[in-house]
Amino acid sequence: MFKRVRGTQDILPQDSLSWQEIEEVSRRIFSLYGYQEIRTPILERVSLFNHSLGEATEIIQKQMFELVHGKDHLVLRPEGTAAVVRAYLENNLDKKSQTSKLFYFGPMFRAERPQKGRLRQFHHLGIEALGSLSPYLDVEVISLGARLLKELCISGYHIYINSLGCQDDKARLAKALRRELKSRLPKLCPDCQNRYHRNIFRILDCKNSGCQKEVGSLELKQGRLCSACTQHFRAVIEGLESIGVSYQLSPYLVRGLDYYTRTVFEFRHASLGAQDALGAGGRYDNLIGLLGGKELPAIGFAFGIERILLARGRKAAPKNQSLVFVITLGKLAEKKGVKLLHSLRANNIPADTDYAGHSLKGKMRQANELGVRFCIIVGENELAKGMVSLKDMATGEQNEIKQDEIVDYLKSKVT
Ligand code: HAM
Repeated sequence: MFKRVRGTQDILPQDSLSWQEIEEVSRRIFSLYGYQEIRTPILERVSLFNHSLGEATEIIQKQMFELVHGKDHLVLRPEGTAAVVRAYLENNLDKKSQTSKLFYFGPMFRAERPQKGRLRQFHHLGIEALGSLSPYLDVEVISLGARLLKELCISGYHIYINSLGCQDDKARLAKALRRELKSRLPKLCPDCQNRYHRNIFRILDCKNSGCQKEVGSLELKQGRLCSACTQHFRAVIEGLESIGVSYQLSPYLVRGLDYYTRTVFEFRHASLGAQDALGAGGRYDNLIGLLGGKELPAIGFAFGIERILLARGRKAAPKNQSLVFVITLGKLAEKKGVKLLHSLRANNIPADTDYAGHSLKGKMRQANELGVRFCIIVGENELAKGMVSLKDMATGEQNEIKQDEIVDYLKSKVT
């Protein structure tokens, strides 16, 4: 028997209704805040991500599913932001309006070691707001994330927020870190010793307690940001407070992708264990320019749909949507059943039947399992009289109704 690829999941019918619900709620909230859907391909050029995420990031170093086809060097996209920026520039959205507010759903691929909440194919629901530096856009994006979780009935999460500052601030911080950490290098974990040379910011949010102790003793908070970035961050914080969004300042939150500048944030949920980020995002004010566009600022986030589902916990399996189950007995009745089903569905009455040739008892059991409200029973007797039997599954009551009146009768029950 063939098995699914490690780190991928089948979404079975009993689970797919929860996925649909998450997508429906998200669509409603995104549109409430003025975001429009964008769908970009799963396949992109590897150079797009090498260029955007940073050569030293874990995704680029070891997590890309790459495909070489002839001269094309492609990749299954590991994230959505770079792809959305590519599409935004390629389709001249930057020239059409001052700001573009976009949302997306879709699978992302990272060759990580699978564990609870960490998959190799997972799904993002995300937004990108491109073209504005307003701190109130940061407030909108973060509060949209909070509203989304509220609508999805998820509580018990915390929002962590930090500002990385502009590119100059980041360069200054990297220099200060290199200086401060040089003498402490032997005390850092092997990963962080590596990060010191390749991706020094990641030392700040290393989970190793020894590294955290070293980082905690650094004096980095004072005067880290230039005055424009300090003002921007203050406005974000004040904006969040003015609308009652709770947050925790987290000076060591740096995020794992190079494109971030200024505001970065994470929504964390303790129930998720080691992989506790439900969603995350931030500003990327230099990425559009880096990918060949004008120097336009932008901000966005992405939530992991699988992690949202984990945080929501298991819900009762939603009921099958069929309202009517058509039970036919005998060859002639079976033919009549085809027509009956067709006209029920043509009148928008959700209906189903048995195609496995079960006995009457088996068919009734199937109808019960599906949780339908009515069974239409067509046997030889009913056929001869031009009638069908209609059984109300809630009351057990059974009546005969004329064949050409049954659809109208059920229509009156649905509407
Ligand atoms: P990210 O933090 O890499 O950010 O991913 C966002 C979310 O995707 C995470 O918080 C987590 O819920 C989920 N996620 C990430 N990796 C996995 C995995 N291996 N298995 C399951 N879920 C996962 C980004 O990708 C940025 N593009 C977000 C963004 C949008 N920043 C600005 N705009």
